[in-house]
Amino acid sequence: MIVNATRMLKAAKAGHYAVGHFNTNNLEWTKAILLTAQKLNSPVIIATSMGAAKYMGGYKVVAALVKAMDEALGITVPVALHLDHGNYEAAKACIEAGYSSIMFDGSSLPFEENVAKTTELVNLAHDKGLSIEAEVGAIGGTEDGITADGEVADPEECKKMVSLGVDFLAAGIGNIHGIYPEGWKGLHFDALEQINKATGYIPLVLHGGTGIPDDQITRAIKEGVSKINVNTDCQLVFADATIKYCAAGKADPTAANEAKGYDPRKLLKPGFEAICAKVEEKIKLFGSENKANY
Ligand code: 13P
Repeated sequence: MIVNATRMLKAAKAGHYAVGHFNTNNLEWTKAILLTAQKLNSPVIIATSMGAAKYMGGYKVVAALVKAMDEALGITVPVALHLDHGNYEAAKACIEAGYSSIMFDGSSLPFEENVAKTTELVNLAHDKGLSIEAEVGAIGGTEDGITADGEVADPEECKKMVSLGVDFLAAGIGNIHGIYPEGWKGLHFDALEQINKATGYIPLVLHGGTGIPDDQITRAIKEGVSKINVNTDCQLVFADATIKYCAAGKADPTAANEAKGYDPRKLLKPGFEAICAKVEEKIKLFGSENKANY
């Protein structure tokens, strides 16, 4: 069942758990996320970055794939199809392409411009029944070998963003995309407390869900985080399982002649199963198991 993410995240905030946002990259990823959410009776957010959507053939392809697969697999739990870190053009394109939720990431823009563009997109998204996430305070990460600490959002800017009508807010609290560097100092819980106070009922979003210790995840949920984004973790387990399968010679056309282990349906199976296991682990950690009927 494809829905927007507003009600599922409000329920998560009120119930002190978080809904997992899992990035998809292809058909196997999509199927693994949907089937695991269904197995655990959990709401779920399935998301594409702009790059992953381009790789898959565009936003319309993604929307058609997710909707058709949701129906074909008989998925009954609530599923939001979300754009992750969209620019202005991508956000507009996804509203038209049939996504049920968008993130407009204007965090690299001057704050006033972020406010102006977010305001416009809030109206466009809400007119069509989509939910919308905005961002204040950039999320750090490693790019071209340069590692930046995650920025900490200003609570007053968060308050302003929420007043525009966004449904949930990504506020940097020292979190970083990808693998956390040695010596990372952890999440800034003092900042989270101030942001949560300033924004009240609004569900907060924690990006960079890979590699944050479980106790910090649990504490962040207790202190106002209701959506947690995970991407790299699924990529790591998929790569590891696929590498092990190949290293064991299972894809070798001569050695595996009988089993035909080079058949893509077999070659991609260990990675698919690894994603299912990772998504299950995260849903249980975030506490959204059996929360499909909010
Ligand atoms: P990770 O890749 O660190 O899991 O972060 C995902 C994310 O925040 C997507 O927006």
